[in-house]
Amino acid sequence: MNDLAGKHLVLGLTGGVACYKAADLCRAFVKEGASVQVVMTEAAAQFITPVTMQALSGRPVHTSQWDAREPNNMPHINLSREADAIVVAPCSADFIAKLVHGRADDLLSLLCLARPAQRVPLLLAPAMNREMWTHPATQRNLAQVAADGARVLGVGTGEQACGETGDGRMLEPHELLEDVVAAMQPKPLAGRRVLVTAGPTFEPIDPVRGITNHSSGKMGFAVARAAREAGAEVTLVAGPVHLPTPRGVRRVDVRTARQMLEATLGLADAADLFVATAAVADWRPAAEAAHKIKKDRSGQPPQLAFAENPDILATVAALPRARSGALYCVGFAAESQDLLANAQAKRARKGIPLLAGNIGPATFGQDDNQLLLVDAQGATELPRAPKLQLARTLVAEIARRLPTR
Ligand code: CTP
Repeated sequence: MNDLAGKHLVLGLTGGVACYKAADLCRAFVKEGASVQVVMTEAAAQFITPVTMQALSGRPVHTSQWDAREPNNMPHINLSREADAIVVAPCSADFIAKLVHGRADDLLSLLCLARPAQRVPLLLAPAMNREMWTHPATQRNLAQVAADGARVLGVGTGEQACGETGDGRMLEPHELLEDVVAAMQPKPLAGRRVLVTAGPTFEPIDPVRGITNHSSGKMGFAVARAAREAGAEVTLVAGPVHLPTPRGVRRVDVRTARQMLEATLGLADAADLFVATAAVADWRPAAEAAHKIKKDRSGQPPQLAFAENPDILATVAALPRARSGALYCVGFAAESQDLLANAQAKRARKGIPLLAGNIGPATFGQDDNQLLLVDAQGATELPRAPKLQLARTLVAEIARRLPTR
């Protein structure tokens, strides 16, 4: 998607086995459209060569502050001024300690200290043995660098190069990429709490069958990710889908419409914004058979009775918090025709300020979509785009409409 198009990143490597993952990370940044300047400490060069990093980034690697290639001989100033962000991955325990003390005896620590802190974020991807990670000195230092303005990206858990198992592995390149992309997005939802429903629901007929629909959950997951990128604290209530949870998003899995309603109502009190993207089954079998329904050889199919499912969006929109404006509700409409008229009618019927209409069969399972936003002022078209890009635009449109606090 070229999420980093036009961005220039300094990728700093410090000493650690995870340097091998930094090669992949560099490739991932370049693939997303970023230009990457690699800076390596002496220790990092023990683990991976500058040749590899130069080949992947397409630029000579910087390793020394005494680099005569820079006309003014000030690589720490030049490199930090050119960057849109500095990412240190892997970031060793020793390097974190150095940052805490403002030490600057090698090019990478020097340029971190010299960076224009208001404009150039510093993101750290720690990597170390589990004992080093949990050591009070490391934890103290991490809290201090965060307080000084660095963003600590967290660590993974699992088997470590040393043979031990625990916390301290560097995050995987695709996870770091998602975090770096998120860090570069505007934050119009900072401090807001967002609740999203996504995916289909599954309404059981018996233990082996049920009714569901073609919703893949992609749009809702994209909305959750975009809201998170925009700075919100996000909870995603998901029906049965096969999608990874966006990073930093809390996920609650449910199966049926009634479970989705219960989970959503339990969370709505703590939300400022509710976005209902789920394709909730309108009806469920009135009773779930305890055992598999068998053919009875009569040639007659079983007679199923249906009950209407609760309308989750309408129920939430009727809560006093929503009616008072403290909880802003956004609905989606999956239509097969007459999008504008159906969307306007649905917005009024559900009692919500904003509704995003789309043509259901044209979007289910697809990676892109187009939306028609309908509010009291009228309709706005969001043209066809990948679902994540569309979700980011939608989040910006919602943020503009949220009542100020
Ligand atoms: N919705 C919901 N609970 C339901 C049905 C729908 O929360 N039981 C929400 C959807 O998540 C979506 C919006 O309501 O945000 C509209 O869903 P849609 O299926 O398009 O509309 P319906 O309410 O089912 O109306 P209709 O059958 O007339 O199309």
